[in-house]
Amino acid sequence: MTDVRETATGLPGAAIDLAEMAGRHRGHRHLLSIADLGAEGITDVLRLTDSFVEVSRRAIPKVPALRGKTVVSVFFEDSTRTRLSFETAARRLSADVMTFSASSSSLNKGESLKDTVQTIQAMGVDGLVVRHSGSGVPWQVAGWLDGPSVINAGDGWHEHPTQALLDCYTITRKLGLAPEAGLSGRRIAIVGDIRHSRVARSDVLAFTALGAEVTLVAPPTLLPPSLAGWPVSVSHDLDRVLPTLDVVYVLRLQRERMLEALLPSIREYTATYGLTRRRAALLEEDALIMHPGPVNRGVEIAAEVADQPGSVITAQVSNGVAVRMAVLFLLLGSGVDLAVA
Ligand code: NCD
Repeated sequence: MTDVRETATGLPGAAIDLAEMAGRHRGHRHLLSIADLGAEGITDVLRLTDSFVEVSRRAIPKVPALRGKTVVSVFFEDSTRTRLSFETAARRLSADVMTFSASSSSLNKGESLKDTVQTIQAMGVDGLVVRHSGSGVPWQVAGWLDGPSVINAGDGWHEHPTQALLDCYTITRKLGLAPEAGLSGRRIAIVGDIRHSRVARSDVLAFTALGAEVTLVAPPTLLPPSLAGWPVSVSHDLDRVLPTLDVVYVLRLQRERMLEALLPSIREYTATYGLTRRRAALLEEDALIMHPGPVNRGVEIAAEVADQPGSVITAQVSNGVAVRMAVLFLLLGSGVDLAVA
């Protein structure tokens, strides 16, 4: 049994001064970009996540923190883990959860996106978790609404802030780093289809905000057209980069977002940029292997490599629930008023 003091919200009374944290986040009503948080905000979410990891390990992994609040997931794109993760997080905080599914909605009867989200707001919701194939849609939605918090669960090729938070959490805790150290001096390579990846964009912002050195490894056709302003280095030689890394972060080829042929063949991609068994053996023994999922085994990563001891892909998924609990709590949390616009 852990010796935890229960607060009114049911959170363990860990060494977190919630009122102080609340002060720092006054004005944060939405989570749209990882840039909204900055290094301090990211660190706060990670510290709070420790409490929710503890809650998630309990026999009854549930606290009353968001009792009476309603969270709706509004997904206009396919998703398994992100939608389930947010909905599980909201339920573990005792919020009521509604699911909106674009394919069976009145959008098919010609209703506009604006009317749809304003209809959802009119039902009295406190938080909308939004995923859309259009970059910037969560910002638009936040502009149309008056009251509820909007959380970006992935917009087009643009951003996926909670994925970046769960990645930062997984790296810092798996490497046993002190919270104040952030990712200072850590070397992380993001490998693969960076061009179409909102995960890569949010991860670069988050990892570098915490002090990591980030290298993008990809064929030129899978890099963004311009890397101006990206605080990263670029390599096309995965074999050379791998032995220097603390973390190799592998991305899926997002073929549904590719509008033209960008690769000679999948087989050639795997041969040049896939994390094969031979390549994984070039990593330091304690280096982490990460992937946001969904994994295409045998394409960007060998099946055995995805399952080998250094792979923390499953930990990313379970940490994702606790991180999203922390985000929902920070934005909507009862007890402490963190949601002041
Ligand atoms: C990613 C996404 O949808 O952006 N998955 C996720 O949310 N974990 C990455 C992908 O689709 O490859």
